[in-house]
Amino acid sequence: MRELKTRIYTHPTAQELESLGEQLRQGALVAIPTETVYGLGANGLDAEAMARIYAAKGRPSDNPLILHVPDSEAVRPLVKHIPPIAQTLMDTFWPGPLTITMPKSDIVPDKATGGLPNVALRCPDHTLCREFLRAAGVPVAAPSANISGRPSPTTAEDVYHDMNGKIEAIINAGPCTIGVESTVVECNEDGVTILRPGGITEEMLAKVVGTVRYDAALVGANTIPKAPGMKYKHYAPDAAMTTYVGNVDAVVQAIVDQLKTIAPSTSATDKTKVGLLISEQCWQRMKSQVATMDFAVKAITYDSKEPAQSLAKELYSSLLRFNEWNADVIIAEGVSPAGLGTAVMNRMDKASAHRVIRV
Ligand code: TXA
Ligand code: MG
Repeated sequence: MRELKTRIYTHPTAQELESLGEQLRQGALVAIPTETVYGLGANGLDAEAMARIYAAKGRPSDNPLILHVPDSEAVRPLVKHIPPIAQTLMDTFWPGPLTITMPKSDIVPDKATGGLPNVALRCPDHTLCREFLRAAGVPVAAPSANISGRPSPTTAEDVYHDMNGKIEAIINAGPCTIGVESTVVECNEDGVTILRPGGITEEMLAKVVGTVRYDAALVGANTIPKAPGMKYKHYAPDAAMTTYVGNVDAVVQAIVDQLKTIAPSTSATDKTKVGLLISEQCWQRMKSQVATMDFAVKAITYDSKEPAQSLAKELYSSLLRFNEWNADVIIAEGVSPAGLGTAVMNRMDKASAHRVIRV
């Protein structure tokens, strides 16, 4: 692939947004901020532009893309019809971290849907993003702006790390507020099926639609996930990661026990590097014990009062910081899988290659 000059636009002006929109319509790749994670945007009506997304990410071609729109009006030409439940969801949760699949119209290229009959649509709750979507004037296909398999980027700097030289531009609006990707749902006759848990929780959906189910593959059944992306290895940090969930004292004990099993450093200058991603409370209770151990430790903590929200925001960037630091081992404290915690634990389970241990 020819190396490109990737330009970063920090809080671009209206004029710059117009020009970036024009570039995207002509086939350029433009990374965009959203409230969840940064997206890698291309013209969602142009199969060739979308082919460049797959190349830049190294993404399997059967994994469909989400089309981003500035408002629910922009959905109409992209779908055969709007199911009544989808209309209710758009009216209630848009703009917001909810992606809805609907029967695609003929103007949506098969490249966007990986050949599936439904197209995934989302209107992000991010003012600058929606200004850009308006300037683009076309639906913007955008997967998370990471190399496939790696943690998703929540800052423009993390996008730059993976995409420098592969894309034309990055719009920088600072860190994402939520930190994990949108909820993906499919509409049924009597409710919705969650294909990927995310920022809009089961509890929030249950208040406005009849029945909320989870795709069988998400709850342990040995079936193929309906969101093709859910079957791939994802969010993986470079070091092996183990996650403990439970009462804070039990988690402290389990982490200390694991640390005792790690081989001691071979030299004072080349210490074994342990990355910890744990609650503030957990860190306070174990830091004096850890200080006596012969490891280099990098502890990243999240707020014990709002653990799911705080961990959602820290998760991907922490894993990327551990990669940069060349951590040998990562140990994390998970949260209870309720509310936003469901999405967080879904990502942690993958990042930990399923080493999530209840204590
Ligand atoms: O928060 C988000 O959704 C972010 C930001 C950038 O908007 N985007 C994102 O895109 O996470 P991506 O491509 O990394 O994940 C999209 C997920 C994948 O699991 C994909 O398989 C699924 O949505 N998906 C896309 N289109 C689908 C469809 N037509 N039917 C079922 N699943 C679909
Ligand atoms: Mg992704």
